[in-house]
Amino acid sequence: MVHRPLAHPPGRTIRVIYSARVSGPDSSVTIIGASGALGFGLAVRLAAAGVAVTVGSRDHGRANEAAARALAAVPHATVGGMENAEAAAANEIVVLSVPFRSHHETLTQIANTMHAGQLLVDATVPLAAAVGGKPTRMLGVWQGSAAQQAQEIVPDGVAVVAALHTVSAAALEDRARALDEDVLLAGDRRADKARVAALLNRIDGLRCVDAGRLEMARITESLTALLIAVNVRHKAHAGIRLTGLPDTLW
Ligand SMILES: NC(=O)c1ccc[n+]([C@@H]2O[C@H](COP(=O)([O-])OP(=O)(O)OC[C@H]3O[C@@H](n4cnc5c(N)ncnc54)[C@H](OP(=O)(O)O)[C@@H]3O)[C@@H](O)[C@H]2O)c1
Repeated sequence: MVHRPLAHPPGRTIRVIYSARVSGPDSSVTIIGASGALGFGLAVRLAAAGVAVTVGSRDHGRANEAAARALAAVPHATVGGMENAEAAAANEIVVLSVPFRSHHETLTQIANTMHAGQLLVDATVPLAAAVGGKPTRMLGVWQGSAAQQAQEIVPDGVAVVAALHTVSAAALEDRARALDEDVLLAGDRRADKARVAALLNRIDGLRCVDAGRLEMARITESLTALLIAVNVRHKAHAGIRLTGLPDTLW
């Protein structure tokens, strides 16, 4: 399997042109919001694990800039940039990593280009900070959670899996730091979660755990607020680790 960096002349849109068909299912991913903290950290870690990454942004230039930054961090990776709507159609797994205040608007936009069979991995957390409140408090979401809101907006046949809420952007981006933590996956179908786990488990030090149905996202999303409170007190980028689980989870 060969991954070559894309040629990307300054000022031009970087297109994802795969130098070789990456073998196996879901060896490519779109990350909407990968110009930001969590999405970029995830892009870098997945790219380093051999996953072809499409950076989605509201702006072509920012998508290209983030893709170039990721390639600078992981020179032999396959990373490209596109505007959100185009990026959302480019891969079968689409990660959404945007502030809650733009969650609905972003989803409404990308719903036009998503198609049945795709998976949306929603990392969005409805923190009160999205509306000027405290980052250690949650907003009430009528549907129960951001991920359940997402499920209402995406086209029929697109399943939502809530994930990554307890993984720190700073820990992801710092590749010198060894990860050692769990990723809780909430979704209505075991097969969808297994697909997401197969992707995220490619990152060394992450262990995906099936945390139940999508309605559990109400709890997994709120763990971000808890971890922010912990991190402020201990000046850390803490994650979570469940104990007592069997060795084989998938
Ligand atoms: N940071 C963490 O450690 C962490 C951990 C777990 C979960 N989360 C959750 O993951 C999501 C993303 O977090 P983040 O820290 O990566 O956020 P961020 O850096 O503030 O934003 C991520 C990206 O969202 C896009 N975006 C769309 N609408 C926006 C708006 N109105 N204002 C600002 N950016 C907008 C931007 O990309 P373009 O401008 O390129 O479109 C931006 O780069 C949030 O819901 C957060 O609660 C974060």
